[in-house]
Amino acid sequence: MPASTLDIHLTDEDLTTALRSDAGLGLTASPKWLPPKWFYDARGSELFEQITALPEYYPTRTERALLARVVDEIARTAQAEVLVELGAGSAVKTRLLLTALSAHSPLQSYVPQDVSSSALRATVDEVAAEFPWLGVHGVVSDFTGTLDTLPRGGRRMIAFLGGTIGNLVPAERAEFLAAIHRVLEPGELVLLGAGLVTDPEVLVPAYADAAGVTAEFNRNVLHVLNSRLGADFVPEKFRHIAVWDPAREWIEMRLEASAEMTVTVAELGLTVRFAAGEQMRTEISAKFRIDGLDAELTAAGFATRQVWTDPDDRFALVLAERR
Ligand code: AVJ
Repeated sequence: MPASTLDIHLTDEDLTTALRSDAGLGLTASPKWLPPKWFYDARGSELFEQITALPEYYPTRTERALLARVVDEIARTAQAEVLVELGAGSAVKTRLLLTALSAHSPLQSYVPQDVSSSALRATVDEVAAEFPWLGVHGVVSDFTGTLDTLPRGGRRMIAFLGGTIGNLVPAERAEFLAAIHRVLEPGELVLLGAGLVTDPEVLVPAYADAAGVTAEFNRNVLHVLNSRLGADFVPEKFRHIAVWDPAREWIEMRLEASAEMTVTVAELGLTVRFAAGEQMRTEISAKFRIDGLDAELTAAGFATRQVWTDPDDRFALVLAERR
């Protein structure tokens, strides 16, 4: 049975350092903003799991059904020996890919990457037990910074699913695709899952559900600032907002201060004032058009091999080859 390993390139201390820097920048900017990656402590990850089961939140189940339908075709085209999964969150998608790649590709190893070592350790152990013929090598890292720490050797396919690419603004996406381009050899592959531009009456409720789970998820970033940086936010005093920006074609989540308030961030020695009604951006979730995705991939040195979409054209899986 091949060995399984877990490499840690990102410690809890590194995370706090990065959060200090992000919070210091975002909370002193005008308008204020915070990067979406800070939603995901244990509570935030659990809230996101709940979001994926909400009736309004179609992306997860749409991508899962699409992947189930086309995964054998992906595996036959890819002929991958190594599957690298960035932000390896969902066990269901991973199992679909590993099963198909084991049947139709010469798959030898699985390299899941995530920022959370606890989640990744569990994934590594479960996959190693369920797919004993595969080498499993977990990498704890921040995918935007440390792609170069991924192991080399064997024909690789890097999967980045869930629509998380939409959390990056265009300049960050270009940088991210350039980084993937640098680690891959010509002919190796990337599999992207991306939400598509669709009816705002479908999009907006997906980010503003009736049960208020997304609101709680949004406010969780304030809980994270409180626990990691000793801030004294009162999360209940912030209202959840989700708006569709038709020009930039992204959903923007914000937190709106319900009253004037002063917040201190002890570990930064920082005092932050909010005016009543002031809005702080906490996430963008960009939606794409096939043409736009293809153009961004081409600009980064990839050639689109194949695109699959669900019957309602709300989600796409794109297989692209590094040139
Ligand atoms: C996990 C980044 C794909 O942008 O749809 C869900 C996160 N934010 N509800 C998304 C999210 C609000 C989600 N991604």
